[in-house]
Amino acid sequence: MSIVGSLRSLLPVVVAVAISLFAGAALAKPDGTSTMPSKRPADYEVGKRLWAQSCWQCHGTSGKGDGPAAAALPGGVPSLEGKMRAEDIPRMVAVVQAGKGRMPAYSEDIDEHDTRRTLIYIKDVLEGRKPPPAEKDAGDEDASEGQ
Ligand code: HEC
Repeated sequence: MSIVGSLRSLLPVVVAVAISLFAGAALAKPDGTSTMPSKRPADYEVGKRLWAQSCWQCHGTSGKGDGPAAAALPGGVPSLEGKMRAEDIPRMVAVVQAGKGRMPAYSEDIDEHDTRRTLIYIKDVLEGRKPPPAEKDAGDEDASEGQ
């Protein structure tokens, strides 16, 4: 599937970012302070980036199942509204890792921790604690390739 293909092509970028983050940690001074502005991006930033990279094409920027690729999937994509209670998150992490129905499995691309960050990000958007990202911020390239 072309969406999956384009996601795979992003992998080197993700790896490069991960390596540069580790390099940043190695720059920490002996007194424990870092020369980097922060050691690690916030969970919210990680979740937002991964949602914009891998999920919104089907699920939509705010998780309502209205992404540009949803129309091409037989059966469409269900809204995640009301499905993301705190007690649902562990089961949803497992679903995203393993794939379900027409949703691809993500265990090779996104680890469990980052999957959890991604789900908590979209939970916060669905429940109005965080603004949905602007369409233009959410991976325009994937939108055009994913049709
Ligand atoms: C190719 C389109 C597509 C992409 C990309 C996609 N999903 Fe899905 N997702 C679906 C479909 C379709 C379903 C409904 C599956 C079913 O119930 O058969 C679904 C269901 C889900 C569910 C609900 C599972 C349940 O048991 O109710 C969650 C949570 C979810 N996706 C999260 C994500 C996350 C997080 C990402 C990005 C890492 C993602 N999805 C990427 C299509 C997609």
